[in-house]
Amino acid sequence: MMVPFTSIGLVAIFSSLVQAYVIPASNISEHPPCVESHSTFTNSLDGWILERGSTANNYEHSADGLVMKITAPNEYVRLNDNSTAENLPYNKYEGKGFTFNGTSYMQYGRFSATVKSADVPGAVTAVILIADDGDEIDFELLAGGSETITSNYFWGKKIVYGANGRTRDPPAKPTWEQFYTYTIDWSPERIIWYIDGVEIRRTTKAEAGVAYPSSAARVQIGLWDGSGVSGTAQWARGPID
Ligand SMILES: *[C@@H]1O[C@H](CO)[C@@H](O)[C@H](O)[C@H]1NC(C)=O
Ligand SMILES: *[C@@H]1O[C@H](CO)[C@@H](O)[C@H](O)[C@H]1NC(C)=O
Ligand SMILES: *[C@@H]1O[C@H](CO)[C@@H](O)[C@H](O)[C@H]1NC(C)=O
Repeated sequence: MMVPFTSIGLVAIFSSLVQAYVIPASNISEHPPCVESHSTFTNSLDGWILERGSTANNYEHSADGLVMKITAPNEYVRLNDNSTAENLPYNKYEGKGFTFNGTSYMQYGRFSATVKSADVPGAVTAVILIADDGDEIDFELLAGGSETITSNYFWGKKIVYGANGRTRDPPAKPTWEQFYTYTIDWSPERIIWYIDGVEIRRTTKAEAGVAYPSSAARVQIGLWDGSGVSGTAQWARGPID
């Protein structure tokens, strides 16, 4: 049966710049010199690979860049999690999101993506650096309310949700109304997050200790439905209606 194809969120990535120690994914034991690369996504995904489960149904190229979509589930079934004090709402079925990876690894370096986020509460727009062992440095953009820009980092060997996350308001219009350029600059000593070239957060290796992300990582960009688990749905300002 065909799942009804409903676009509930739009994300156009105008361009993305990776400037790093870029290592071919086929051989991450080698560390060739830094290579700079740039993708506009207006008519191709060259140099990127769809995550398993993501299909061409969930994206299209446009003059503004790549448009990502969530396919709605056959029905939205609202449930309440009675194991939480607030009986938090969530959806029985999640929409099918879209994720794609860069094909080169970087171990330290700078990455920027120019993004307009989805505007549907419960949908999460993610621009992240992720290593095969789970080390992660990210921006995740939420729809609805205030403090919709989250920055975070995780140590793959022991993921602790919430501990290293920060939230903030966008510099001007909401993230779903305006393109902003989100940058992660990562060195062995510190991680700096920027929006439109303005530093908004800095974490040092000294502060993070052993939990500092250090494994070779790839850029991953995605749009996902955060409605399926009550705590996640609440964080994501959802569940999606
Ligand atoms: C990977 O790197 C090693 C060490 O430099 C080299 O011997 C090997 O040929 C490389 N493999 C590929 C597939 O490039
Ligand atoms: C909580 O939800 C579960 C699953 O829906 C249900 O079996 C259980 O009876 C509920 N408990 C209460 C106290 O409502
Ligand atoms: C995308 O990156 C993640 C994190 O490293 C990895 O688990 C996944 O296998 C990658 N998928 C593809 C298709 O390369």
